[in-house]
Amino acid sequence: MQNIEIRQAKLYDVPALARIERDSFDSPWSADEIAKDVTSDDGSIYVAVALIGDERAGYADMRIIKGESQIYNIAVAPEFRKQGIGEALLDHMVRKSEELGLRIITLEVRAGNEAAMVLYEKMGFRKVGTRPGYYAKGSEDAVLMDKVLGEITIDMNVQ
Ligand SMILES: CC(C)(COP(=O)(O)OP(=O)(O)OC[C@H]1O[C@@H](n2cnc3c(N)ncnc32)[C@H](O)[C@@H]1OP(=O)(O)O)[C@@H](O)C(=O)NCCC(=O)NCCS
Repeated sequence: MQNIEIRQAKLYDVPALARIERDSFDSPWSADEIAKDVTSDDGSIYVAVALIGDERAGYADMRIIKGESQIYNIAVAPEFRKQGIGEALLDHMVRKSEELGLRIITLEVRAGNEAAMVLYEKMGFRKVGTRPGYYAKGSEDAVLMDKVLGEITIDMNVQ
C-alpha cells in the first residue's frame, strides 16, 4: 500500500477537496462551505486531508459539540478508493477526538451507503438508531452510529 500522510487541511487544499466532494456526492459542499470550515478558528471544527505523495486523496470534517465529536463528512477521491484511505482518515479522527478528551464520536450515514457503513462497523462504530426518511426527500433513512472513546476491551478468556 502507498504511504498515506494525514494533516490538518489548509485554505490552499480547498479546490482539491471541492473536487473530491463533487466526485463523491449528489449534493456536494461548495468550495466556500469547505473553506469556511478549514479556516474556522473557534476550535470546534477540524478538517483533515489525506495525501498520497502530492495528491489530495481524501478528506474528513469533524465538529465538536458539547464534549462529543461528530464526523460531518468523509470522502475519498474515486481513483484512490479501496486503498485504506477512508480507514486512515477515520482512525485519525478517532485519535484526534481521544487527544481532545472527548467521550464519544458520532455520525450519520444513508442506510443505502454500504461502503461507508461497512467501513464504520470495521472501525468499531455501532448502530444506535435511525431517522426514517431523513434523506432524498424522504425516500432514504439515516442510520445513526457511535463509538465510545477510550473504552478498554477485556478478554474474558484470559486465565
Ligand atoms: C466510504 C468511503 C469514504 C470509503 O473510503 P475508502 O478509502 O475506499 O475505504 P477503505 O479503503 O479505507 O476501506 C476500509 C474498509 O471499508 C469497507 N469498504 C470500503 N469500500 C467498500 C465497498 N465499496 N463495499 C464494501 N465495503 C467497503 C471495507 O471493509 C474496507 O476494509 P477492507 O479493505 O479490509 O475490506 C468512500 O467509498 C467514499 O468516499 N464514498 C463516497 C463518499 C461517502 O459516501 N462518504 C461517506 C458519507 S457518510
